Amino acid sequence: MNNHHPSGLATPLAPTRVEHHVSIRPVRTADAEVCGRIIHDAFAGIAAAHGFPKDFPSGESGIALARALAEDPAYYGVVATIGETVVGSNFLSKVDEVRGVGPITVDPSRQAEGIGRQLMQAVLDRAQDAASVRLVQDAFNTRSLALYASLGFEVQAPLLLMHGTPRGEMAGGMRVRPMEEADIPACDALCSAAHGVTRTQELRQAIGRHAPMVLERHGRMVGYLTAPGVWLANHGVAETEQDMAALLAGAATARGEPISLLLPSCQAGLLRWCLAEGMRVVKPMTLMSRGRYRQPAHCWFPSVFY
Ligand SMILES: CC(C)(COP(=O)(O)OP(=O)(O)OC[C@H]1O[C@@H](n2cnc3c(N)ncnc32)[C@H](O)[C@@H]1OP(=O)(O)O)[C@@H](O)C(=O)NCCC(=O)NCCS
Repeated sequence: MNNHHPSGLATPLAPTRVEHHVSIRPVRTADAEVCGRIIHDAFAGIAAAHGFPKDFPSGESGIALARALAEDPAYYGVVATIGETVVGSNFLSKVDEVRGVGPITVDPSRQAEGIGRQLMQAVLDRAQDAASVRLVQDAFNTRSLALYASLGFEVQAPLLLMHGTPRGEMAGGMRVRPMEEADIPACDALCSAAHGVTRTQELRQAIGRHAPMVLERHGRMVGYLTAPGVWLANHGVAETEQDMAALLAGAATARGEPISLLLPSCQAGLLRWCLAEGMRVVKPMTLMSRGRYRQPAHCWFPSVFY
């Protein structure tokens, strides 16, 4: 085989692809077990290859996630099959107006064979009516970054998964308290001012599931976060970096346990504050979007979707 470019330079050989007949179909609850194991194994594999900790502690936690997503009508899920065997899955969040993609995983023994591209295309076809589709990927995963970029996703922000227990002083007039249903309009207004979109349903879900918190400054709501103990589901907005620092410290104090979040690392002052408070960087990630995206007007951090 001629491996030379017209320039005379040697070009690297493309990896050989094994041809299988791959079908894509909607996920069923009965797929949860195999999908969950693949979710665990695929993420554990890429993390171990780069020396990072696992996202999912066990196969059971992957299965619980796959089951929850497969049974939730707010998510559209697909599986890839070869014959009767499920070899991968992908999900699209339809909770609010921005669509979020993931988790996408392919059985480690079937990766780099074109299956991930088909799973992505299937959810993008489903998201055709959405103005914006977003996702967060592991920055060290060159394959997923290349795949998403080739499908039209653009890098919007470098992120750092931060974990720890900040203990900053609460300035006078500041109060952190649990989010209530009645706070949703003010949270929506803050989110809209920052991002130009709202996440009303997600906020409503967070109140039942994740102990979200708000920050008041002199009685006015100036910040919120949705899931201080679960970074995958935790997104937040605050008017200023100082407000966000107060919110993070207040949430950690109220919980009495560490918090975690995906911090956009270009918010340099907030990153320095997190480090000074003893928080640790777990891993780098990247926010990518396809379609409409506006640089946030306030201090913010995304969940694993956006
Ligand atoms: C990420 C993942 C879903 C991709 O699925 P996959 O079936 O392995 O990927 P595919 O073979 O469909 O596509 C990979 C594409 O990236 C390209 N690619 C891979 N490495 C690349 C690199 N270093 N530079 C440029 N392109 C690269 C491939 O050539 C291919 O593009 P092509 O279709 O134009 O040939 C899968 O590898 C996986 O499960 N990884 C572990 C879990 C994970 O990280 N999930 C993503 C979470 S964000």
